[in-house]
Amino acid sequence: MRSLVSGLGSQLRSAASIALPALPDANELLILGMGGSGISGDYLAQIASAHGARISGHKSYGLPGWAGTRRPVVLAISYSGNTEETLSGVEAARGLDLAVVAVTTGGALGEVASTEGWPVVNVPGGLQPRAALGHLLGTAAMIAAGSGLIPSPAPDLEEAADLVDSLTEADGAGWALASDLAADLSTRAVIVYGSTGLTAPVAQRWKAQINENAKRPAWFSVFPELDHNEIVGWAADPGVNRRLGIVTLTDRDDGARVSSRMRITREVTAGDVDWIGEVRSQGESPLARMLSLTAVGDMVSVALAEASGIDPMPVAPIEDLKNRLREES
Ligand code: F6R
Repeated sequence: MRSLVSGLGSQLRSAASIALPALPDANELLILGMGGSGISGDYLAQIASAHGARISGHKSYGLPGWAGTRRPVVLAISYSGNTEETLSGVEAARGLDLAVVAVTTGGALGEVASTEGWPVVNVPGGLQPRAALGHLLGTAAMIAAGSGLIPSPAPDLEEAADLVDSLTEADGAGWALASDLAADLSTRAVIVYGSTGLTAPVAQRWKAQINENAKRPAWFSVFPELDHNEIVGWAADPGVNRRLGIVTLTDRDDGARVSSRMRITREVTAGDVDWIGEVRSQGESPLARMLSLTAVGDMVSVALAEASGIDPMPVAPIEDLKNRLREES
């Protein structure tokens, strides 16, 4: 997983030059996908919003109620091609005769796309879905551009790739920062704070990577909403709070009021929260800034796993749950 995390930059670079099939023109894109595949939709929704384009993610069965009237192009992303929620959305899209584009390594999604003649982009196989973020997100961004919704993301993917490479180089400063954070978090459950906009989906990615790679409980919350509820909970029994640590992700576009909220939140909870850290985005484009934070989170999750002698790769509970659901279908 350490080398896969270090490979994020080269995945982004290779996505920037992929050959796309002919794509439908889109006024709007609806991205279906779960977990390590679906997070690409959340990232892309933020990138699109910076361009005034409408891209949204759907992480459940079927389609949102508005799909039949707004008729978005549906982009189904499933690394395995066998995720039942995503397949259910694809089935609903077929029923509504919506244009569908697939990103996958094969599976049932690859089969239905080939039967229906839908455009498919095959990404390299043999990885864990969450370790294929550069391929999945990069490809989805290229498809959004190919459908006319956003300008070509290739320059931003290149910028992000260079930045991520510098952060994740072996024995570099990025891994040292990750090890320091992991040391502070090693005895704590982690809560990752982002803010509405670019860092919210990155906070979700940090949470998921810590869950799956380090096999630890972690959650994420988002400013400004968390100031309207979560801060009250920090007044709990210190025996609970002492087992928790907060990492706040910051970005230059957080805005003055959210930055003030972050500072004041820290001040008013300082006596109750046992450990608070901060990681700031780097880079110029929104994509590069999101991916710089992502790279640090990925490295922290691996450093946490390694420090506890845990293999970051397998995710047995996810596989077991999928198998049990399959037996019941
Ligand atoms: C595993 C992982 C999971 C999967 C999810 C959906 O590495 O990250 O969150 O991504 O269970 O499966 P796929 O991606 O195959 O559609």
